[in-house]
Amino acid sequence: MSGATAGERWQPVPGITSVWLLNYDVALYGFAEYLARYVFRVDDLSRLHVAWARHKGGPLEYRDNLELRRVLQRLPPGSGFYRIYERFHRRLVAPLFGGRISYSSAPKMRVHLAGTGSVSLWHRDADITGRPEQINIWLPVTDSFGTNCLWVESDYGRGDHQPVPVRYGQALFFDGGFLSHGTVRNDTDTTRISFDMRFAPLQSRAQELVARFLGHRPPGIEATMAPGAGRQAAAGGASMHGE
Ligand SMILES: [Fe+2]
Repeated sequence: MSGATAGERWQPVPGITSVWLLNYDVALYGFAEYLARYVFRVDDLSRLHVAWARHKGGPLEYRDNLELRRVLQRLPPGSGFYRIYERFHRRLVAPLFGGRISYSSAPKMRVHLAGTGSVSLWHRDADITGRPEQINIWLPVTDSFGTNCLWVESDYGRGDHQPVPVRYGQALFFDGGFLSHGTVRNDTDTTRISFDMRFAPLQSRAQELVARFLGHRPPGIEATMAPGAGRQAAAGGASMHGE
């Protein structure tokens, strides 16, 4: 968003701890435009279920989400998508968080077609990754709301998961390591495509901003990480979303 300072880009999410929205310029980071034009070849990603049902010639099921996700996962490093992805982290996220960050080389891809089942059970990422220092980014390339968006508990350990609407042009930053989150059956008429990734700030200059996400944890919560957290992830066999 031209003219905005870094501070003006952030938007709080009322009633939820350690969760903020970052508004970004889709003209600079055109994830949806790239995927619609070059990958799925549709005018509107949120109507992908219509095009896919026509192509398939039958009712949509959960496994259709996985099949379409594989299309995204096959995008090669260096492709147009990854050029946008790299730019997003290097030009936008890293400067906000002090200049240097360590981030996922590839995001987790999600496709949640309208009318299909849950893509992700409730979980805390740290129970799988064993990485309490990471911050989550959840970025939809379609407007997300209601049962097609990410649900997050309002505070640590409450379990009162609620939908957090995020429109295209916003990225949700949150403490997914210890705030439970997941998705439910998509009963809207809108398909959601999103990416999620995690990063760790490497410098201390952005301590105030980092504290916004990691500074509200109850004392000792790191000790509640699942036994063996990180072992599966290190072995490359972890799936925290039941997929
Ligand atoms: Fe997660």
